[in-house]
Amino acid sequence: MEKNKGPRLLLIPLPVQGHINPMLQLAQILHSNAFSITIIHTSFNSLNPSNYPHFNFCCIQDGISETESSTSDLLNFLIQLNTRCVKPFKECLGKLLSEEPIACLISDAMCYYTQDVATSFNLPRLVLRTSGASSFVAFTALALRGKGYIPIQESKMEDEVTELPPLRVKDLPMINTKEPDKYYEVLYNSVNKTKTSLGVIWNTFEDLESSSLATLSQQFSVPMFPIGPFHKHFPTNNNTSSCSSLIPQDQNCISWLNKHKPESVVYVSLGSLASITEEEFLEIACGLVNSDHPFLWVVRPGLVHGYEWLEPLPSGFVENIEGRGYIVKWAPQQEILAHEAIGLFWTHNGWNSTLESICEGVPMICMPCFTDQKVNARYVSHVWKVGLQLENGMERGEIEWTIRKLMEGDIEGKEIRDRALKLKEEAKVCLGLGGSSCSSLERLVAHILSLELFNFEAS
Ligand code: UDX
Repeated sequence: MEKNKGPRLLLIPLPVQGHINPMLQLAQILHSNAFSITIIHTSFNSLNPSNYPHFNFCCIQDGISETESSTSDLLNFLIQLNTRCVKPFKECLGKLLSEEPIACLISDAMCYYTQDVATSFNLPRLVLRTSGASSFVAFTALALRGKGYIPIQESKMEDEVTELPPLRVKDLPMINTKEPDKYYEVLYNSVNKTKTSLGVIWNTFEDLESSSLATLSQQFSVPMFPIGPFHKHFPTNNNTSSCSSLIPQDQNCISWLNKHKPESVVYVSLGSLASITEEEFLEIACGLVNSDHPFLWVVRPGLVHGYEWLEPLPSGFVENIEGRGYIVKWAPQQEILAHEAIGLFWTHNGWNSTLESICEGVPMICMPCFTDQKVNARYVSHVWKVGLQLENGMERGEIEWTIRKLMEGDIEGKEIRDRALKLKEEAKVCLGLGGSSCSSLERLVAHILSLELFNFEAS
């Protein structure tokens, strides 16, 4: 594919899987709309340029140590990244701008350090929010500290947050940390530098989050471009997800799925960052086996605290589930969710997983772990009503009961499945000609071209 076509855009993802995927998908979308693309990435979780011969790549040396790069301490990682990357990013930008004109920078909203650097070069900056709009409404409320939600008291967990229905206090997008002040700082910076950007791109669609998008449009006086679902701008089999995958995807699970009846398999994955205790892991294992339904389970190395992989499972477990259960380290998730054998997705509700499930009409069991996942889970179960949330942590009895409810003849389960199929159709319509995401993309392209013109006139 041709490398240099139209005006050049610089894209900078946050270097974790759930943010790399949508940024690379956005790059593909914009490339298909005649822009030239340069991806600026860090040496930590660096990308493989040979997977994208039609893009240019520029690697910045973030200087983040091995301990700092541990994404198990997400907060510290974000702070270090936003501190250490300033200097190398500035050098990189100076060099790129001396080589050719750049129309604009599109930065992940969590890379808020990019705003001041872009301003110092007079370079227009747009933001990609990889989370949903509804969780961002909650993030924005949290960032305005005076609201009195925090510190959260255990006794108030079940209380409703009147300003953010249908969220309860326990659904607020919090992270487990002993340093809440640092969390505020990150939230505040990210929200503030989103407000001062020249536009926000969303991996969502109007029909799904119209009310949250309207709230944000009132709060932020910058244009909003909901152009998602990003991954559905391309056919499922075009490999966009495997190209940006940091862990190799085990393709054997597709042949395993091929042997199963339609809508018979439960798919289980908690994404790329969440981790669980040994006790929780064993509860999941027992709940899955006791449900009597076939399951495909992604156990990412390091998922269970203190273990490499499957060591906590009782001996003989893997042999005993043969044929009925299949465990992999990492899977081609988009293909799996699109496979006819899948009947249910047990997810941590990272935004990508949530949206990927919605796009395939697969109902969800929600087990959120932190930040936006909690908001997403509440929306899945109480706004879109396409899933059920495990409310009591990971407990084998509740897991078995919930799987059966959604997979078997229960009326509530059937209603949830029907709504999931309806939402799938809405997701399809928004990308068709005249659909809301299609129109937003046209507006985005025009907006970027107008920024380029502005740049050209100013220079
Ligand atoms: C992180 C945050 O945890 C999440 O809350 C936020 O919304 C985005 O960033 P992550 O936890 O990894 O993301 O979850 P998610 O957003 O669901 O992204 C995971 C991505 O990895 C998805 O695109 C999914 O398709 C992919 N994946 C997951 C695989 O390709 N294979 C797998 O086995 C599991």
